[in-house]
Amino acid sequence: MAVETRPVAATAAPALEPLPPSRSARWYIDDELWALERDRVFGRAWQYAGLTTQIPNAGDYFTCRAGHVPVVVVRAETGQVNAFVNVCRHRGHEVVTDASGSRKTLQCRYHGWTYGLDGKLRVARRSEQDPDFHRRCPDGLFPLQVETWGALVFVNPDPGARPFADYAGEWQERVLQTGIDLDGLREHERRAFVFESNWKVLVENTLECYHCAVCHPGLAQLRDLREDVWYEAYEYASAYGAPTRKDDIKRRDNASPFFQHAAETPDALGTWVWPNLFFTVFPGGGAMIATAQPDPFDVGRSLYLRQYSFADDMDEAARADFTALFDQVVSEDQPLCASVQRGFHSGFYDPGPLMPRSEPGIIQFTTLFDRVVRD
Ligand code: FES
Ligand SMILES: [Fe+2]
Repeated sequence: MAVETRPVAATAAPALEPLPPSRSARWYIDDELWALERDRVFGRAWQYAGLTTQIPNAGDYFTCRAGHVPVVVVRAETGQVNAFVNVCRHRGHEVVTDASGSRKTLQCRYHGWTYGLDGKLRVARRSEQDPDFHRRCPDGLFPLQVETWGALVFVNPDPGARPFADYAGEWQERVLQTGIDLDGLREHERRAFVFESNWKVLVENTLECYHCAVCHPGLAQLRDLREDVWYEAYEYASAYGAPTRKDDIKRRDNASPFFQHAAETPDALGTWVWPNLFFTVFPGGGAMIATAQPDPFDVGRSLYLRQYSFADDMDEAARADFTALFDQVVSEDQPLCASVQRGFHSGFYDPGPLMPRSEPGIIQFTTLFDRVVRD
């Protein structure tokens, strides 16, 4: 059963240091720093990949990225969830080019090398012509570490990474308190939005709602944004939220189906997990899972991927309202982030003061980023 999330009021700012002094426009526009991030952030972090419910049967797969690393997640014959670097060991073509599907083997579309669902190389066409082939050829695809939390699949490209459990903890307890059925999460809809900004601009934008009352009039009808959202910082994650305007909505004659639903159900709970996952639990057990993905080649571009998993008691009309509202919010955020990126390129951005009660998420994220890239 879903329980009401924390009663909302502006809470004391978490005990965080001020913004790291090294933060500057360079963080968001510099190719050298992006190369460092590929190694130290996306090369080492546990990253959300997708849902086990996307691959219920042996041979089912989906592709995704862990930062710059192309990944294929596949259900093996044993039922195990495997993840591999989706790069062919022959000449580097992506082995699987579809977003999802089902196959008995993973065959590269370039020269036809074929890998098993366990990643092992099974067939390399014409390899019998080279008596030395098996001595020289690779064993198979590079495996990634995989962990699941409910239906959520996390992968890590670093074979020596600390276990996922080291990053787990209180934020997960917080999510579970809502009563959400994590095993039952299913993707109903997905969206992909291109942002003309560095991925960190997108993360920072999503971590604060200081701008919401100015920029998101539709959202302001749903949530009470007159005060700061409440925010709790954990070591590698945070939880936050704002109250639904339930009384206001109930007084309206023309409240939409989703607003009516939200007025009768617990407030949404937002969580952010290092480095780029936003997992929001919505009224009645639905969830919105979003990642801010860096473009592998362009430091000034990113992709915001969203999966909607609706609660069973949300009817079609409410679902349509829900997606329209949150798509609208993203379309309002896109030009904000693009504008910030242009500001960073101007040569005249000297980081201004952050509001400790309104923007604690940015302080937390940038402090963590600073620490990780310096390690
Ligand atoms: S690159 Fe995959 S078979 Fe050649
Ligand atoms: Fe926004």
